[in-house]
Amino acid sequence: METKRSTFTGKIGFVLAAAGSAVGLGNIWRFPYLAAKYGGGIFLLVYIILAVTFGFSLMMAEIAIGRKTGQSPIGAFQKLDRRFTFVGIMGSIVPALILPYYSVIGGWVMRYLFGFVTGQGSEMAVIDKTEVAGALTEISFFDRYIESVSEPIIWFAIYIVITSVIVLLGVQRGIEKVSKIMMPVLVVLIIFVAVYSIVTMDGAIDGVIYYLKPDFSKFSVMTVVAAMGQLFYSMSLAMGIMITFGSYMKKDVSIEKSVRQIELFDTGIAFLAGLMVVPAVFAFSGGDETALNKGAGLMFVTLPRVFDTMPYGDAIGSVFFIMVFFAALTSSISLMETVVSVLQDKFGMNRKMACIAVLIFSLVLGSISALGYSAWSDIKIIGMSFLDFFDFLSNNILMPVVAFSTCVVVGYIIKPKAITDEVELSGKFREKKLFSVMIRYIAPICIVLILISSILDVFGIVKI
Ligand code: PHE
Repeated sequence: METKRSTFTGKIGFVLAAAGSAVGLGNIWRFPYLAAKYGGGIFLLVYIILAVTFGFSLMMAEIAIGRKTGQSPIGAFQKLDRRFTFVGIMGSIVPALILPYYSVIGGWVMRYLFGFVTGQGSEMAVIDKTEVAGALTEISFFDRYIESVSEPIIWFAIYIVITSVIVLLGVQRGIEKVSKIMMPVLVVLIIFVAVYSIVTMDGAIDGVIYYLKPDFSKFSVMTVVAAMGQLFYSMSLAMGIMITFGSYMKKDVSIEKSVRQIELFDTGIAFLAGLMVVPAVFAFSGGDETALNKGAGLMFVTLPRVFDTMPYGDAIGSVFFIMVFFAALTSSISLMETVVSVLQDKFGMNRKMACIAVLIFSLVLGSISALGYSAWSDIKIIGMSFLDFFDFLSNNILMPVVAFSTCVVVGYIIKPKAITDEVELSGKFREKKLFSVMIRYIAPICIVLILISSILDVFGIVKI
């Protein structure tokens, strides 16, 4: 079974495979809308500080655990300390929760790709002003789209079936190769769109300032909660994925250098995506709070409007969305592969059975997420739509618990030295001190505080 799982990364470079998993909708879709919502510059600052300290240490720990034990998450924690096997199990549940709703967004991407390819670019940029209860409300193409019942489910189903077929056939390598070529083009295109909107649109500069200049009055504990959840999500942390990657890493490859590269790549793309989306939102709305708070739909409302103002907008939009599609695909493949390999290893399923099981599970959970915006939009779980709830449950509850437990295991059970020794098999560990202090003290304390405050916030006990 080990050999089967090794096709996950195959022989392609460790950094590229891990970066393929890390860079996805989290960077392009999730980061910009969170940055817009949580105060722009202050969110960016908190995120970057967390990435180079906290994210760095956790990713080091996970990859080193994987390489040291040579196992996927459940086996790895079992090997480190039997009492902590549950961490591996919890870590494996997270991707199963993310995959369905991730694929719903993947479906949105496909719908937009289809739209641009078939020349509906302008149609997707239209915003109707309608009167609802005496107030003028803007209804975008996106609003109407997600409120329709069957279409989002169909696109979601197509997306998840594509992902399943790729995982079932084990042809990830081909996809990874394609996306390896596409990634640099995606970066160039994001920069182009960002520069274009900043230069040509009135008011975009204010958006650049909002995005880059930290406004400390906008700081709240929720800024840190959101930034940390996003960090886990974007760097594919706290769900065993990096442990699995690490288990395939050669002993002579520098973990520290690789982590730096992955981090730079991942944070760089998120940063640029924010620069592409946030100033454009300002240009269209003049920095109106409600526009900044648009949430999950932000990119899908704003970008078509930007493309609509460009010459050859449909063509550029098509190229853009096809690349986002591939970035998303490499991530959802790694999500699915993780769940499939757990089912294979722990439940003795064969690959086909495991893929079918994950597909059916995802179809059910994903459809619920999609319906949460349409037929079931009245149903809320602790004030959230289904999609937001799954997102919150995995990012803000389960991942912090897994991350906290990882810190405890590394900091106090096996001790940081076990990890730093593993890292030093391939050269000096430059940030050894930072790593040990982070893992033992700062990270666990921060995680607990954050976990408590986000729970208190959601249940409305204290507003933070
Ligand atoms: N990191 C991916 C992204 O930013 C999402 C993801 C999370 C992928 C977890 C795999 C595992 O889109």
